[in-house]
Amino acid sequence: MKIANFYLLALGLCLGCQSKNQQTSQTDTATADSSASAVATIPPPNDSLSLYFADLQAQNKLGALTAIQVANDPVFHKAKSYQGVLMKTILEKYTLLKNLNPQQSQIVFECEDGYNPSMSLALFLSKTAYLATKDNDAPAGQDWVNPTKDGREMKIAPFYVVYTDVAPSATDFKWPYNLVKISLVETQKEFAAVYPKDDDTMVKGFGLFQHNCMTCHALNKVGGIMGPELNYPKNITEYWQVSDLKPFIKNPASYRHNCKMPAVTNLSDKDLDEIIRYLQYMAKHKIKA
Ligand code: HEC
Repeated sequence: MKIANFYLLALGLCLGCQSKNQQTSQTDTATADSSASAVATIPPPNDSLSLYFADLQAQNKLGALTAIQVANDPVFHKAKSYQGVLMKTILEKYTLLKNLNPQQSQIVFECEDGYNPSMSLALFLSKTAYLATKDNDAPAGQDWVNPTKDGREMKIAPFYVVYTDVAPSATDFKWPYNLVKISLVETQKEFAAVYPKDDDTMVKGFGLFQHNCMTCHALNKVGGIMGPELNYPKNITEYWQVSDLKPFIKNPASYRHNCKMPAVTNLSDKDLDEIIRYLQYMAKHKIKA
């Protein structure tokens, strides 16, 4: 039903915490250039749906680094070259990727600063994604160069996901930097707490919220943690005047000095109304304490 239509949206889903230690228990018995069939014979640990890249790197399990050329890097806004490893190889080797239906799954990126973008796993696997571990422009002895945005330095380390065949205009693709972990999740399972199951008229607002807000905000504990949870235990519309929501979202700095939320400028008033209606609906659909 409707849920199935939504795997294509970029979803900000916060995966609860899968045990950090599980996937590191897998020993790298195969040689670095093991064939696909050899990989398939290594039984991955049962809950190996998330990976902490620093653990893999510390254990020398990322594999041989290759040179990566990105024609138009959307973070640096120019051609870049990196070193890194193919994401697909890492996922095949260290996760239960083969047990998932990519069409009905998401890859969730967890960044150090609490930003949690995600996208369709099928879309992700359809292009050539790399886990970049080093920027070739970095000065000797360093792995990364940090660009500045709006006068603030952005931290790219420890990892950055880049593509060699995706244009910056393809906004469904995520290029997370400051990345520490990925998780593979089944879309429907992760949706259970936020999807408007009993009201089709909320689906639009839900999709807009997923796409534009959930990378930073959770509802019912599902979503990013860079910004505050907006539904549990109290819904934002229960303690804010609803009339203040739209102007705040459009220009948070007009409400708070030093506000850490960037202005949302790509949504129409109608879109924001849909989001607010969905937020009001969610007030009546809280998870149980
Ligand atoms: C890049 C991350 C990010 C995105 C995207 C984002 N927010 Fe925020 N939001 C924040 C942060 C951080 C705060 C806390 C702001 C502060 O006071 O410094 C916040 C605060 C808020 C607040 C006030 C909450 C409170 O109680 O103080 C509301 C309401 C809100 N955001 C709604 C939204 C909505 C709706 C969207 C999508 C249209 C959205 N935000 C997108 C990061 C984000």
